[in-house]
Amino acid sequence: MSERRRILVTSALPYANGPIHLGHLVEYIQTDIWVRFQKSRGHEVHYVCADDAHGTAIMLKAEQNGVSPEAQIAAVKAEHESDFAGFGIHFDNYHSTHSEENRADSSYIYLKNRDGGHIATRPIRQLFDPEKQMFLADRFIKGDCPKCGALDQYGDSCEVCGATYSPTELKNPRSTISGATPVEKESLHYFFKLPDFAAFLQDRTRSGRLQPEVANKLDEWFEAGLTDWDISRDAPYFGFEIPDAPGKYFYVWVDAPIGYMASFRNLCARRPDLRFDDFWAPGAPTELYHFIGKDIVYFHALFWPAMLYGAGYRAPSAIFAHGFLTVNGQKMSKSRGTFIKARSYLDQLNPEYLRYYFAAKLSGSVEDIDLNLEDFQFRVNSDLVGKVVNIASRCAGFISKRFDGKLSAHCAEPALLNDFIHTGHGIAQHYENRDFGRAVREIMTLADRANQYIDEKKPWALAKDPAREAEVQEVCSVGLNLFRQLITYLAPILPAMAAASRDFLDLSDLDWSSRETLLLGHAIKPFAPLMTRVEKEKVDAMVDASKESLAPVAEVATLPATATAGKAKAGAGAGAAPAKAGAADDGLAPEIGIEDFMKIDLRVAKIVNAQHVDGADKLLQLTLDIGEDKPRNVFAGIKSAYPEPEKLVGRLTVMVANLAPRKMKFGMSEGMVMAAGPGGADIFILSPDEGATPGMKVK
Ligand code: MSP
Ligand code: ZN
Repeated sequence: MSERRRILVTSALPYANGPIHLGHLVEYIQTDIWVRFQKSRGHEVHYVCADDAHGTAIMLKAEQNGVSPEAQIAAVKAEHESDFAGFGIHFDNYHSTHSEENRADSSYIYLKNRDGGHIATRPIRQLFDPEKQMFLADRFIKGDCPKCGALDQYGDSCEVCGATYSPTELKNPRSTISGATPVEKESLHYFFKLPDFAAFLQDRTRSGRLQPEVANKLDEWFEAGLTDWDISRDAPYFGFEIPDAPGKYFYVWVDAPIGYMASFRNLCARRPDLRFDDFWAPGAPTELYHFIGKDIVYFHALFWPAMLYGAGYRAPSAIFAHGFLTVNGQKMSKSRGTFIKARSYLDQLNPEYLRYYFAAKLSGSVEDIDLNLEDFQFRVNSDLVGKVVNIASRCAGFISKRFDGKLSAHCAEPALLNDFIHTGHGIAQHYENRDFGRAVREIMTLADRANQYIDEKKPWALAKDPAREAEVQEVCSVGLNLFRQLITYLAPILPAMAAASRDFLDLSDLDWSSRETLLLGHAIKPFAPLMTRVEKEKVDAMVDASKESLAPVAEVATLPATATAGKAKAGAGAGAAPAKAGAADDGLAPEIGIEDFMKIDLRVAKIVNAQHVDGADKLLQLTLDIGEDKPRNVFAGIKSAYPEPEKLVGRLTVMVANLAPRKMKFGMSEGMVMAAGPGGADIFILSPDEGATPGMKVK
């Protein structure tokens, strides 16, 4: 084998404002497979990552949840780490960009660039939320399209007519954070002078080992001309203050990639054998790779190497961009149930199925990859269960029962085994190039040959003839040696199945080169099933659990006019039977966790119609607009308090939007409105303040 390489590998840092989903996992699984492969080849590899914890979105999320940003990011980090562990993704370090290491490295890199003359300042005018006292990024401004007049469009482009514009052009603009009308305001911003690095970046593009699609993209950007990059944000902002600029913070994308470095520095602090400079000093004889999605190439191929260069560090050896995940040929969708969280998958299915499926689809290019759920089931069952595991299960029983677990002392098919070993060179090359799909195809061709061999030799038939006992052992020993080759090749993709196989084969490791020594006269342990089939019911259950409950309209019914004043209850949550109208409520309901609360989808609803129900003396029939195509029909037990229903028309209220629809005597009820009060005339439907619009989520 070639000499021992020293490699530092990263995956993009996931934002700390949401859960890991299957789209993210394309990247983390891809990286983890590559890292495991390199480690199995005996190279020194360090795989680091972190949560990307800064920015406005995270700050607002924390505010909404009523917790500090620090508490918010700590909770999300714990979730991310457990999701990754669930998928067998092994980081050598998982850190956070909100760390002291990152603060120090970010300051240093900024100051070096500043001293090198690569930072400029100038005032810019931007929309400002006078209520919230903060500047508004485009996505926090909505208004009417200046071109076609469509209502409720974002600050940068119109979803109706496709026009793009600047947020100051919007008509009737409002802040989506406070609802206030934004005003234009000036403030001083800090810029990173990217054009200073044009020659350096172009050189890298030409000589670098970039993927062709990425190189083309870069050429387009060079042609369009590089421009200064705005790297500052005004307070309030959750991030690091710029050292020489009180009240100004680094834009999240400044300290995010530096988080790679900081995570590695944090690892070095625990590992006296590792030296930071070995991996970051200019000309370091080590390799540095960033695995990223195609959406963040600009940051990694331009800003990041330029910032590093400007600060006197080495640049990455390469960036490896991958495409986006689609599910069943379409963008992941909450209503179709294909926006699947890592946790929803793990609740139902073996993570190795997905690792295998993604591997089979990945090619080292930036093409998108599709998870077709039917194909997923078919492929995993036919390849892994039907082919690979089958080889071991067909041979192991004979060896255990008849030969005391001992494989034969010589190999009956040296040429066949040699061929399997030799094919490993090509497979390794495909892994190296991240062409996992090709590696998988070659491995499956070998699996077919192994099964063919067993089919031809028919150990089960030989076993009936006492004179051919030795042949049974020979054939099954060859079969198990072939299986050992296959599982060695699959180990980077299937770490758990590989570990179980290693145990069954009683081997100390499955390192790539160990396969060159055949298992002769070797004792194995009893066979235990290594993988079970993908069950369709589990796949369906996962999709069902991922369906945004808003789609198939929900239910109910009599309002629980049971809440005492000052305490509103939504019938104690979806699923619980609403209490009878008028019943007294004399205490707090049992405590529920935040997970239970999060299940309740509360929406601002506009009462577009309200009327009496023939034959019902407690109910009103409400027609509620929550921003969906069709309004909801809800029967609410509030007639005693609202004897003139027409007075409700036009009012806003709050409804539980994801209650399962319920058939009532008078028709289907598709949700529940929220109200407070002991009952009778004292029932008060809840109303959000002015500015709320139908469909807004209530938190
Ligand atoms: N925080 C930034 C990255 C900073 S790196 C210094 C970010 N975070 S992210 O959570 O939005 O995405 C993390 C990674 O997952 C990115 O590389 C992104 O491309 C990838 N993916 C997110 N959704 C994806 C799919 N649907 N499909 C494939 N990859 C996707 O970007
Ligand atoms: Zn428009």
